[in-house]
Amino acid sequence: MPKPSSRSKLINRRQALFLGMGAVASVGTTTLAAGLKAPRNSASLPTVANLQQRSFAVASDLPLRQQAAAKGLLYGAAVLKSSLMNDPEFSQAFARECAILVPEGALKWDSLRPAPDKFNFTDSDWLLAYARQKGLQMRGHTLVWHHALPKWFAGTVTPGNAEKMMVEHIQTVAGRYAGKFHSWDVVNEAIALQHGHPQGLRQTPWLDLIGPRYIDLAFRTAAAADPNALLVYNDFGLDYDTPWESARRQAVLQLLERLVTAGTPIHALGIQAHLLREDPKFNPSQFQTFLREVASLGLKIMITELDVTDARFGAHSTERDRQVAAVYEDYLTVALGEPAVIAVLTWGLSDRYTWLAKDKDRPRRDGLPPRPLPLDAQLNRKLAWNAIARSVAHCPKRN
Ligand code: G3I
Repeated sequence: MPKPSSRSKLINRRQALFLGMGAVASVGTTTLAAGLKAPRNSASLPTVANLQQRSFAVASDLPLRQQAAAKGLLYGAAVLKSSLMNDPEFSQAFARECAILVPEGALKWDSLRPAPDKFNFTDSDWLLAYARQKGLQMRGHTLVWHHALPKWFAGTVTPGNAEKMMVEHIQTVAGRYAGKFHSWDVVNEAIALQHGHPQGLRQTPWLDLIGPRYIDLAFRTAAAADPNALLVYNDFGLDYDTPWESARRQAVLQLLERLVTAGTPIHALGIQAHLLREDPKFNPSQFQTFLREVASLGLKIMITELDVTDARFGAHSTERDRQVAAVYEDYLTVALGEPAVIAVLTWGLSDRYTWLAKDKDRPRRDGLPPRPLPLDAQLNRKLAWNAIARSVAHCPKRN
């Protein structure tokens, strides 16, 4: 943890940059803040031509969970109970490749809370039993978010009961799995610069009903409910060299600095890493600097929802797979080069079950099924699998 003097310098320098970025964010993402130059080495999309000579050869065909474990890392994926319960060959592949699972939906409010006074843990309990039976760890997603709120929420939760509702939810849910989860996404996606909050906070029901302190309160409640779990702040749009994502990175850093300075029990940043959804100018040194700044706060980092939207690539699956693999490897080479990164989870394991198949925001114009994940829809390993294995093979071993 940096000494107070270096911390105050850190915050002052970042505040200056963030305020500049805030100007950018408030006028939209088309203009660069005065004097801000996009660093030279921003790479854009990998093309078929520039990938021709690139090898994705792997030195081992051991499952990703084993290759990651050899480096002191966790590899896993998001999953639905229905996929594991109804698809034995998928379940076998999942248990082979993954060392940790995160429920894609089972631990969200709309799944857990059929009524204001009711909890339904059927799916999350099933997934925990599956994880234990297969020797996987499990992480929770997510205790406090503005999406996936049950239909009764708006008409029930008021400024008078919001704090009680949030605290009781966290106490009940995190308390039920105390000592059994690797980590929790305690608060998800609290930053939205376009909402104009002075700290870049998203205008969520939680902010409206409780105020900015809802974030610290959520972490303190989760820490009391499960003192063993790593407590994570999770967000997206932190990957690319664009004014918008640079401003988001600064806002997230400011949030983390405030929480760490206040003594909030936060242990890690979750970087969702849904790649190629925004302008894909990846700047390795800029992203590495961001990871280092997060680590300098004494925090760990998890890549929590990694996938590569392939809507920008052509129809030919072999070429598309190479381009997707290049994006995976370029990104993970930087991410896993930072020792504070302790885990990589893809948001799904196989193209057979990817949320991107239903993605209305960035569908493929040709209507072909997306190919964003390490295994194809027939559960064969793709070059994206190779890319993850190669990044793990080349990264430093964690202590
Ligand atoms: O289970 C119901 C089903 O009974 C019903 O018939 C059907 C029709 O509406 O809906 C089903 O629920 C859907 C659920 O996924 C299934 O798991 C919800 O409508 C749908 O909104 C929900 O979408 C999920 C979304 O988060 C919202 O919770 C996606 O699968 C999931 O991939 C996505 O994941 C998010 C992360 O939590 C946060 N980061 C971004 C990421 C991608 O959007």
